[in-house]
Amino acid sequence: MSIRIEATNAPVGAIVSGIDLAGEVAEPELTQILDSLWRSNVLIFPGQDFDAAAHEAFLLRFGQLEEVRTAPEDGARTRYVMYVANRPVDGKEGILPDGEMHFHTDQCYYQIPARITSLFAMEIPQRGGNTLFLDACAAYEALSSETKSRLRGLSAEHVYDYSGSPTLRSDTLDPNAPRFIHPAVIRHPVSGRRSLYVNRLMTRRLVGLDAQESEALLDELFSHMEQDCFIYEHVWEPGDLLMWDNLCTMHARTDFDKSERRVLRRVTVRGEQPQAAV
Ligand code: SIN
Repeated sequence: MSIRIEATNAPVGAIVSGIDLAGEVAEPELTQILDSLWRSNVLIFPGQDFDAAAHEAFLLRFGQLEEVRTAPEDGARTRYVMYVANRPVDGKEGILPDGEMHFHTDQCYYQIPARITSLFAMEIPQRGGNTLFLDACAAYEALSSETKSRLRGLSAEHVYDYSGSPTLRSDTLDPNAPRFIHPAVIRHPVSGRRSLYVNRLMTRRLVGLDAQESEALLDELFSHMEQDCFIYEHVWEPGDLLMWDNLCTMHARTDFDKSERRVLRRVTVRGEQPQAAV
């Protein structure tokens, strides 16, 4: 069996076939996978069958795994595995169980966000609960030169309020919610491309602008980034493993019927602090 990697028909994403992630993945295949990940933002491995230990082992090939810091104390977790689930897994509750989720990157409210996020689909509703991915480098490059100049040197504060609305942007925020300030435009660590680093769910303000100006510019950026021309929408099948570049790709989720089961296993790879594009 040899590995095949084909671009999706969308602006983002590639489908990887001819590989069993529960088995031994050789070094040349790993290099091919990583090169494609940085080029395509999202890799889709359909038809996989692997348990949490194999999932962790595969992700570990890309770097140190991120310990789960954010699951509620009673959430289903091991040290590195978290379940995005609306049903208990191993007798414990999952996180982000139901409903639409606005665009975001995982852990941008920490100094060091995850570099790679992966989700493995275990149970999927008949309709909806799709995950959308947008290419934040392409979105930056398509901005007008005037907007690019306005963004030069700006930073943005990201906050995640688990106790409020963890899936949709809300007007109120827990003052103790985790938060961090990062540059609004960062550099892709591999390609060197500039990438927008703001998102609708978690970015609360552009530092140094007055509240009205900050809101207006963020709204303009969110509407720009969330255009179809930057997006791939993934319709899940059980057995899909997706991994994505969590720095320069934003993701969101469509709504679904909460009476249907949706269970995905998540493992992330630790990153480095995002660097400003100068
Ligand atoms: C997440 O943002 O971690 C969850 C995405 C999804 O449920 O599709």
